[in-house]
Amino acid sequence: MKIINIKTKSKHYNIYIGHDIFAKLKKIIKKENIQFKNSLLIVDKKVPKNFIKKIKSNINSTKKIVYLFNASEKNKNFKSINSILEILFKNNFTRNDVIICVGGGITGDISGFASSLYKRGMKFINIPSTLLSQVDSSIGGKTGVNNKFGKNLIGSFCQPDLVISDTKLLKSLPRREVVCGYAEIFKHSLIANKKLFLFLDKNLSNILKLNPKFIQKAILESCKVKKQIVEKDEKENNLRKSLNLGHTFGHAYEATLNYSSKLNHGEAVLYGILSATKLSKKLNLLGKNDYEQILSHLSKLKFTNLSKLFSRKDLKKIINFMANDKKNVSKKLNLITLKKIGRVNISKQYNTVQIRNFIKSELLK
Ligand code: GLY
Repeated sequence: MKIINIKTKSKHYNIYIGHDIFAKLKKIIKKENIQFKNSLLIVDKKVPKNFIKKIKSNINSTKKIVYLFNASEKNKNFKSINSILEILFKNNFTRNDVIICVGGGITGDISGFASSLYKRGMKFINIPSTLLSQVDSSIGGKTGVNNKFGKNLIGSFCQPDLVISDTKLLKSLPRREVVCGYAEIFKHSLIANKKLFLFLDKNLSNILKLNPKFIQKAILESCKVKKQIVEKDEKENNLRKSLNLGHTFGHAYEATLNYSSKLNHGEAVLYGILSATKLSKKLNLLGKNDYEQILSHLSKLKFTNLSKLFSRKDLKKIINFMANDKKNVSKKLNLITLKKIGRVNISKQYNTVQIRNFIKSELLK
């Protein structure tokens, strides 16, 4: 079992990473000195029942309430937050009680947000159940909900008190979900750690098969990258923007397909990374060797051809979504581009027409 300590200005907390660590949950919570009388477990309905049972039996509290959440972007809203707050009020929870989340990014965002609102903030333990949430959303304290104006537009920065990432939970994930989480690990390597990129490139098949030794190293190193970034820039004023590598393109690709199951978030990010890599090469920001290494890795993952999903008739929609991305604060496009494997440009802006022509060149008529 490995422990990473996250030290942000607002809170210091530990992330535990290991295989089958739930049996030690009581001990870990005690060691972390997280005290509470009552607990509300917010659990994604998709989490296998045996895990819920195991987690429940390893929590010490007077009241132990389980709220099963039907995690979807549609349910990531204020109605769900209100339902959670009502349970807390009806059961007389105090600020010293705890919400324990067991689920993926959506459940984590909802649970973290509710914990930040109830009586101005109660305790929050996150047990991420997907690879994506173990390497990304459980670290750094972004919480929130969607509304009719867009995704994640209402929320707070609220760091958890503890994160437990058990790789045994990942066994129940379909391969597409594993690739989805892998996209963020790969992204972290490109942003800040060439050694991690080389490890991923060499061991891709073992990692995607969730071989414990390999997946744990990939998660650990990936979390270390995110740790370094959020510790320096918790509120995304500058450095944290680097985590958007591939995301402005990726969000536009997901949105253009109306968030259909044809393309999940991680797959959109992989296509986004493909576009950011090709753009960086085209603008002579990225050298040939690194470009070829990234493309070769994406080809192992089978993400090298944007034309599989889009044609030139989609161009207008894609560009409109890119320009409206909430991270874009001016008419020009803020895009993260690559300098080399392990280094990115954060504050460059690109002309919308230039980007439109670039995407056009990537698509068939
Ligand atoms: N997922 C990007 C961030 O946490 O900032």
